[in-house]
Amino acid sequence: MTYRYITTPIYYVNDRPHMGHAYASVHADIMARYLRAAGARVMLLTGADEHGEKIAKAAMQANEAPRAFAERHAQSFQQAWRRLSVEPDRFVRTTAPDHARVVSACLTRLYDAGEIYLADYEGLYSVGQERFVTEKELVDGKLPEDKEPPVVRREPNYFFRMEAHRAWMRQLLLDTPDLIQPAQYRNEVLRLLEEPIGDLSISRPVQRLAWGIPIPWDAQHVTYVWFDALLSYVSPLGYPDQADFADFWPAARHVIGKDILRTHTLFWLSMTHALGIAPYQRLHVSGHLLGADGRKMSKSLGNGVDPLAAADTYGVDALRYTLIREVSFGFDGIISEAVIEQRLNRDLADDLGNLAARSLSMVVKYRGARVPAPGRHEAADEALITRAAALPSAVLALVEEMKLGRAAEQVMEFVKQLNAYVASSAPWTLAKDAQSAGRLDTVLHTLLEGLCCVSNLLHPVMPGKMSELQGWLGVTDGPGWHRAWGDGVKPGSLVKEGILFPKRAA
Ligand code: MSP
Repeated sequence: MTYRYITTPIYYVNDRPHMGHAYASVHADIMARYLRAAGARVMLLTGADEHGEKIAKAAMQANEAPRAFAERHAQSFQQAWRRLSVEPDRFVRTTAPDHARVVSACLTRLYDAGEIYLADYEGLYSVGQERFVTEKELVDGKLPEDKEPPVVRREPNYFFRMEAHRAWMRQLLLDTPDLIQPAQYRNEVLRLLEEPIGDLSISRPVQRLAWGIPIPWDAQHVTYVWFDALLSYVSPLGYPDQADFADFWPAARHVIGKDILRTHTLFWLSMTHALGIAPYQRLHVSGHLLGADGRKMSKSLGNGVDPLAAADTYGVDALRYTLIREVSFGFDGIISEAVIEQRLNRDLADDLGNLAARSLSMVVKYRGARVPAPGRHEAADEALITRAAALPSAVLALVEEMKLGRAAEQVMEFVKQLNAYVASSAPWTLAKDAQSAGRLDTVLHTLLEGLCCVSNLLHPVMPGKMSELQGWLGVTDGPGWHRAWGDGVKPGSLVKEGILFPKRAA
């Protein structure tokens, strides 16, 4: 049995989920669905990062206790994922008692091992990013991703000896070229590791921040939010001694945005190393979504598209498809209403929807809605059959690299090939001639089988619409990834016509 473990970022629940969150979660979900379809035992994890200053501040502004505030927002994230067809196997909450136990145990182990010490700390602190920052990172006095400049803080903190793991981390990156993908992010981290990275402050005095997991040996401090949050990748697996941890952790892949690259490399790799946990298998790093104006989507600029509203307007599957096709993973790119509409109208309605509509309507018209049995295959049919046989492994290879847009593109190329086949085999002409009845059966069967193959290959991207299509094709046994050509649609069974993707007028 092959085990696979995919995680999304564990989101701060200080607001409703936005398109950036949806981008990461939809990618993780689609990868998980592909790997599951290919036969692996997959665990998909998402969750809520509920502690820390950011949440405490947002709760205060909302005049609510942090726990109630975080609870409410964690639920709205769970609802949003259901609406976006993101189906995690586990939803971790950093306020869960099981998680807190793991964090306490890890802190105690590291403290006993001499990896943690107490010292006075003075530095610049970014509340937006929940971490101390260095002068070097600032542009015009603040972090580019923050609205407000960092504040000067001096306080006693517990420190984790992160610097002591730097040489090891550097070697790990050199020895494991595909640990961080795409490569530009690996290079960025390698550059960071060339110079001292210092030790990591991992606690906050309780009089300043009480909303966190207490340091087990010192009630005056609570655990720093990142130290707490990163461990939520292992706590739901029952770290350290449960079978899920042994099975799934060696195949761990984290999906994150480039804004949290540093925490997922310097912090997390050194923490796991100190704890004796093997490093994750891969870090998939995305770029940022930009609004129609080409600037990073943000609430203050008001240039974002709300993912739930977009799902209502264009359909959840068109949104998922657009997210992977429009912005190549790892790069920045624009998501606007206009691009979603264009993807829906062109790729989904004109290419795929049209292929389905005309194939099914011809079966209804010429064969009383029954799937015909194919006769002898000609060269044009064979070309499609050969392509269909090669697609699953080509798609999977791209999925492994998180190139989901290119994987879907390959399938859409096949759709174009099928549309060209309709034109060149001209079933409407064959239908006029009784002598061509056998050939018409074969052509129609080839189209239906091709559509069945497409519905299997795109099911992870558009589960709702592809299940609907399978229903229309009379395929009742669910998506079958490795079903050979001829094992999809059943001759004699009934098909149904329909419009899969209604077009939207601008
Ligand atoms: N709580 C931390 C993560 C802890 S992981 C152990 C956090 N949460 S967050 O709510 O701020 O979500 C961050 C993630 O949301 C980013 O890494 C990224 O994946 C996604 N995005 C947020 N804004 C984004 C864009 N504008 N574009 C693309 N993704 C971005 O950080």
